Amino acid sequence: MKALAVRPGIPGSVHLTDVAEPELNSVPDNRGVLVETIQVGLDATDAEINAALYGRAPAGDDHLILGHEVFGRVLAVGAAVTHLKSGDFCTCTVRRPGPTLYDQIGRNDITSHETYFERGINLLHGFMTQRFVDDAEFMVKVPVGLVHLGVLSEPASVCAKAVEQAYLAQQRLQIWEPKLAFVMGAGQIGLLTTMMLRLRGLEVYTLARTENPGLKEEIIRGYGGHYISTKTMPLEDLVRKVGKPDLIVEATGASRIAFAAMEHLNLNGALVWTSVTGGQKTLSDFPADRVNLEWVLGNKLLLGSVNGNRHHFAQGLADLASAEMMFPGVTARILTTPIDGFDDPGQLMHELTENQSAIKVYVNVKKLS
Ligand code: BGC
Ligand code: ZN
Repeated sequence: MKALAVRPGIPGSVHLTDVAEPELNSVPDNRGVLVETIQVGLDATDAEINAALYGRAPAGDDHLILGHEVFGRVLAVGAAVTHLKSGDFCTCTVRRPGPTLYDQIGRNDITSHETYFERGINLLHGFMTQRFVDDAEFMVKVPVGLVHLGVLSEPASVCAKAVEQAYLAQQRLQIWEPKLAFVMGAGQIGLLTTMMLRLRGLEVYTLARTENPGLKEEIIRGYGGHYISTKTMPLEDLVRKVGKPDLIVEATGASRIAFAAMEHLNLNGALVWTSVTGGQKTLSDFPADRVNLEWVLGNKLLLGSVNGNRHHFAQGLADLASAEMMFPGVTARILTTPIDGFDDPGQLMHELTENQSAIKVYVNVKKLS
């Protein structure tokens, strides 16, 4: 069976490889689910892994099979599996439990162990294969009405967690009724977060550099948000115009912007960082005294959020479904760049890193029939 892999540590090492067929019985206690891969999404994390900035191979292997955003169809289930059956559509979570208490209660997404295990990213092989097996515990059913958006299940889980965490953490204030949000970045995470915050009734400004980005702006408008190009309207000008946001979700992939966002949060606000920045950049011109003072005097909250557990996948899917009711057809427009099969690894990475008009690059591994 074919798979797409990299050699972590070697830049540009993406290649095709051959792997053994997965076996249902490799999962203990009849909890195995065998899945036929239909689509696999790629994101900036895959680009960073191929650039050797991030990611590790499983112990004893020199390669890592890519793919952490999967949509598939169940081929077979073990006797103990009750929430999925053959023919169901499904997705699969990314993190696997480590040794801590959080892992044991199904909160692998907040493990307190330094080493984390993530399929297709860190120490575990991913889903960019024709078939895969995993424990039913990590499999999430995708409703038939969302088959056309199934490949967005994982990114939606990441956004659902970021939003959930902000609301949970803000319970510290006893009353928090956020009205205004800025979403930094208009990639898939920025767009889906815009959608989720609009579903919760916030006024949302989604910021990115590009002037007149066309489709991205249409999608944001479709969700009832506002697109702002920071080239024509820098952050300080926007704040002067609309006020300081109660919530900022940062998803640009640029640590400099994650810090810059700290200068503009409202009193009692929450800033959520979601960018995974594998590089080595440093900042020398940050107004540290001023920001420190404002954050202390303003009781502001900085929150890091990564990954999603099965509950966040379910919430992400519920939000994708609500968005189809509220903003029909908008979300599918994120799916700009399908690629048939992964036989041409170079083309895949080229689309992912060079195609400026692509929002979502994903592989059709198997045609839906
Ligand atoms: C994935 C998350 C993962 C994170 C850190 C992201 O691209 O979507 O599931 O936890 O990278 O590795
Ligand atoms: Zn990802």
